[in-house]
Amino acid sequence: MHMQEANRLKRLPLYLFTIIDELKDKAMKEGKEIIDFGMGNPDQPTPKHIVDELCKKARFKENHRYSRSIDKSEILLRDSIAKWYHKKFGVTLDPGSEVLPLIGSKEGIAHLSLAFLNNEDIALVPSPAYPVHFNGVLIAGGILHNIPVYEKDGYLPRLKELPKEITSKAKLLFLSYPNNPTTATAPLEFFREVVDWGKKKNIIIGHDLAYSDIVFDNYRAPSILEVKGAKDMCIEFHTCSKSYNMAGWRLGFAVGNKDVLATLAKTKSYIDFGIFKPIQYAAIEALLGSQACVKETILIYKKRRDVLVNGLRKIGWDVPLPNATFYVWARIPDKYSALTSMEFVSLIIRETGVVVAPGTGFGEYGEGYVRFALVENVERIKKAVQKIKRILEMET
Ligand SMILES: Cc1ncc(COP(=O)(O)O)c(C=O)c1O
Repeated sequence: MHMQEANRLKRLPLYLFTIIDELKDKAMKEGKEIIDFGMGNPDQPTPKHIVDELCKKARFKENHRYSRSIDKSEILLRDSIAKWYHKKFGVTLDPGSEVLPLIGSKEGIAHLSLAFLNNEDIALVPSPAYPVHFNGVLIAGGILHNIPVYEKDGYLPRLKELPKEITSKAKLLFLSYPNNPTTATAPLEFFREVVDWGKKKNIIIGHDLAYSDIVFDNYRAPSILEVKGAKDMCIEFHTCSKSYNMAGWRLGFAVGNKDVLATLAKTKSYIDFGIFKPIQYAAIEALLGSQACVKETILIYKKRRDVLVNGLRKIGWDVPLPNATFYVWARIPDKYSALTSMEFVSLIIRETGVVVAPGTGFGEYGEGYVRFALVENVERIKKAVQKIKRILEMET
């Protein structure tokens, strides 16, 4: 049988981590010890009180059925999300219409494009970005318009400089601060300007706040919904994956404009049957229970951040110190600046077994950079730095 995948799939680049996995596999077979900073996949266990709640609730047979939005678990979950939101950001949400649980925020982000984009509609996406922000647009068959963002601008997009031919066709704008991969953060003032601009242009704004809790040195990550009037056209994506080390559980949520959320919910209703109810109860426990576990997680990442950044600086690789996210976004050292980020990553994996993500995995404007995810422990970070030192000292 001759099979052809759909054109919209052909437009997608090969998933970055598939390529990295092949390189890793090869290095492993050659006997290299792999120290993996590639994927932003939290390595810490989900806190016990959350796991306990899952186990407890899994014992009830009524929790094994499909989840409907009128079911007790979903009503309680939406209520808990609204409470968590109010406590964290001081923003009041109507749990019935302004909160939508998701099977992980990645699912919701991809479906937002599917829900709104026709073939002639443009989605604006800063580049570099978390891949589903732009790949979701391609899967939906919309037109992707990358907005290059640069270190010198703090990786904030210059929206006012976009030509009218683009903005008049734009229906969606994706943003995400604290940012993966650049680690950039945005002040509330930036969100004020974006909301004001978006309102004038009639553009829906999807802000991805996956790293709201992963912040250091007294930094607080604001929600775009703190801006007055933001609910007119903004929604915001959140996740339990990072704050509570629940990446595999698949629980996220979107909050904000009720019409946008209703359309997203409609799209999802034809595709999925909600989240396993025991996971919903466990998420309620996560959001409303003790937040001591979040503080512990932050301390772990902070220590790792300091060890990695100081270590790299000591061996002559001057990387910035992030004040949020669990990543370090590093310009390729001058000595190797002739290499593409993928070539540089291949070299490090081949020579040392240390895995980092190439900047181009996050879009073309990620070229020239690599990303470290702080998902290895301090001892292994120190070991990795020594291995990288060899690369920096190598004859080229
Ligand atoms: C910016 C950003 N958004 C969303 C996600 C995905 O989160 P979830 O596990 O909720 O799908 C990630 C995961 O790395 C991320 O970095």
